[in-house]
Amino acid sequence: MNPVAERTALMSKVAKLQIGDETLELPLLVGTEQEQAIDISKLRATTGAITLDEGYVNTGSVASGVTFLNGEEGILRYRGYPIEQLAANCDFIEVSYLLIYGELPAADELSRFRTSLRRHSMLHEDMRLFYDGFPRDAHPMAILSSVVGALSTFYQDSLDPADPDQVEISILRLIAKLPTIAAYAHKKSIGQPFNYPRNDLEYCDNFLQMMFALPTEEYEIDPDFVEALNLLLIVHADHEQNCSTSTVRMVGSSDANLFASVAAGICALWGPLHGGANEACVGMLEKIREDGCNVKKYVEMAKDKSNGFRLMGFGHRVYKNFDPRATIIKETCRKLLAKRSIDDPIFDIAQELEETALNDEYFIERKLYPNVDFYSGVIYRAIGIPMSMFTVLFAIGRLPGWLAHWKEMHDSPTKRICRPRQMYTGATQREFIELDQR
Ligand code: CMC
Repeated sequence: MNPVAERTALMSKVAKLQIGDETLELPLLVGTEQEQAIDISKLRATTGAITLDEGYVNTGSVASGVTFLNGEEGILRYRGYPIEQLAANCDFIEVSYLLIYGELPAADELSRFRTSLRRHSMLHEDMRLFYDGFPRDAHPMAILSSVVGALSTFYQDSLDPADPDQVEISILRLIAKLPTIAAYAHKKSIGQPFNYPRNDLEYCDNFLQMMFALPTEEYEIDPDFVEALNLLLIVHADHEQNCSTSTVRMVGSSDANLFASVAAGICALWGPLHGGANEACVGMLEKIREDGCNVKKYVEMAKDKSNGFRLMGFGHRVYKNFDPRATIIKETCRKLLAKRSIDDPIFDIAQELEETALNDEYFIERKLYPNVDFYSGVIYRAIGIPMSMFTVLFAIGRLPGWLAHWKEMHDSPTKRICRPRQMYTGATQREFIELDQR
């Protein structure tokens, strides 16, 4: 069913809006999980008024069938499948297929998908030269967005969003090359030679090899790290209309190509209120450790509005009960550290911080819980991934979600350029003043 017909089918009641003496009837749409949305698409044309909703806290920008989340009950499902089941049974590539194409792949479909990804994992040799131009201390997220944007200069044969074949090859190129682009950024920062991707390795194994192998010695891929990495990428893979996904949709809505749209999404993810929180969180835990592990002091600081400090990895726009991704990650973190006998004081501090905050009235009242970024950094540390690469890992994980949403938008017959309105609050018309009279 196309989205318009689907929306009509789901329409059940009307909402009434009174402006002055006029009463307007607005369709009340109901989604497949019984979520209600007031359709205001005719509001301005009928009344001249717009809605104002800074931060889009109450605004649905789209009807989407990719991911369902219920923040009150802590539910997250990709294409209907609970995150817990996917994390327990799939690897990241299988989940990527599910998100992008809408169904779990049959064995032959999955095998073809893996083979295609292997074939596209190398970067054009000229692209390697880009890395010579970046400063050694450049943040890898800056490199990631630049190089992803630059893919559109190398693959000019696949930039048309209206051509399904071109879109398909761009999807494969992006998933296949992102780990290579990321690992090269890391190798550049430490002055080591780049490792080519290897076609005999699975996705996460290959990434670890590109990140850590040296030409001087044998590199053994640790299956525990591969498992943890797969799980982390899976729980990050989509989260409906978050800031970076909305950015990818926004940029893509102008019919900008897929590489440009994803490069913009990477920039949006970088911020510490979004994907950058994992790096900021470990930075904060480190600071607490250096400061004598005084957890209470930092909880008090987070409550004090005058200093602007927030507990990184805490709170979420949508989750107001618990973040199911954080629950999965915390357990993985505990298991990995125990199995590898890693004694990381940061993990102890994180647990104490969680316990203290969860029993504090300020956090209880505001429904602030640890989010996906709270424990993920501890796992990345255990794997040996440097802090500056944490958000890059988030980007690799989130890529299939961005692709699924970009594709869903372009496949929709109701697609329009995203162009919000505003309520103007500036000066009203005034006369120009000559320069010598100002
Ligand atoms: N520490 C202390 N106070 C907080 C925190 C925090 N981490 N998060 C929210 N609050 C307070 C906030 O000050 C406000 O208090 P009051 O009602 O007294 O003004 C109240 O809780 C509501 O916060 P908000 O800023 O209106 O909520 P939001 O939905 O706009 O922001 C958030 C959500 C995730 C940006 C925010 O909770 C935050 O800044 N958290 C820390 C950064 C972080 O961990 N981000 C990762 C999010 S999950 C992964 C992802 O999406 O990338």
